[in-house]
Amino acid sequence: MQDTKTAKAPTSPVRHIAFIMDGNGRWAKRRGLPRQKGHAEGAKVFDTIVRACFARGIEAVTVYAFSTENWSRPEAEVNAIMKLMGQYLRYAEKTLADNDIRIIFIGSKDRLSPALRKKAEAVEEKSKHKTHILNIAFNYGGRDELVYAFRQLAAEGKTDITEDDISAHLYTAASPALDLVVRTGGDIRISNFLIWQSAYAEYYFTKTLWPDFSEEELDKALSEFGARERRFGGVQ
Ligand code: FPP
Repeated sequence: MQDTKTAKAPTSPVRHIAFIMDGNGRWAKRRGLPRQKGHAEGAKVFDTIVRACFARGIEAVTVYAFSTENWSRPEAEVNAIMKLMGQYLRYAEKTLADNDIRIIFIGSKDRLSPALRKKAEAVEEKSKHKTHILNIAFNYGGRDELVYAFRQLAAEGKTDITEDDISAHLYTAASPALDLVVRTGGDIRISNFLIWQSAYAEYYFTKTLWPDFSEEELDKALSEFGARERRFGGVQ
């Protein structure tokens, strides 16, 4: 296991990367396994890739682990993902001292079981002074996030609302601007993920299924990002 506290982090032009970790179900099906096995393998790859990102000097990583729409999946599959998240949080808590990772849940914790919610809040609290940000999108939807931000602004009595005000009230407020979104699994769509934050982000789509995603492919995505000309609506 790599220690992100002592690992030498080269600087990367990507400060904030996000992953739509798609393809777990197909990966399992191709092997004649239940979908849950695909998620279990996906959770291992998630840990490897998150660490690889921080080792490359990326400041913030956001992963789409469970959407507001994923509740409609079969109960056994939903339960399996909840269980994997619980296992990950226990592992994150145990290895807290060896890592410099701040875990932030983005999305509403309202529908989580009391035990999972408690563990998520404890890990957020215990890791809050760490440097690298890991946003775990869980029971997350991009539209839902915007509603949350607007409600906060309304509750503060804000009327003259700016773009910066909205950004500051999103779940990702602690992270730098989003640079790159990687989607595995072959589909070319956003799926209600970081819809405000991705306005000027670059996208990298790959047919690779998430459990097969590797550090080599991460490097390919990062080098493709480095070769792109970002104009942010202007001209060069
Ligand atoms: C999409 O693939 C994936 C998900 C809905 C869940 C992603 C979850 C993980 C990678 C594990 C989560 C656990 C932790 C600890 C982060 P899919 O099921 O839609 O795949 P398919 O398109 O092939 O059916």
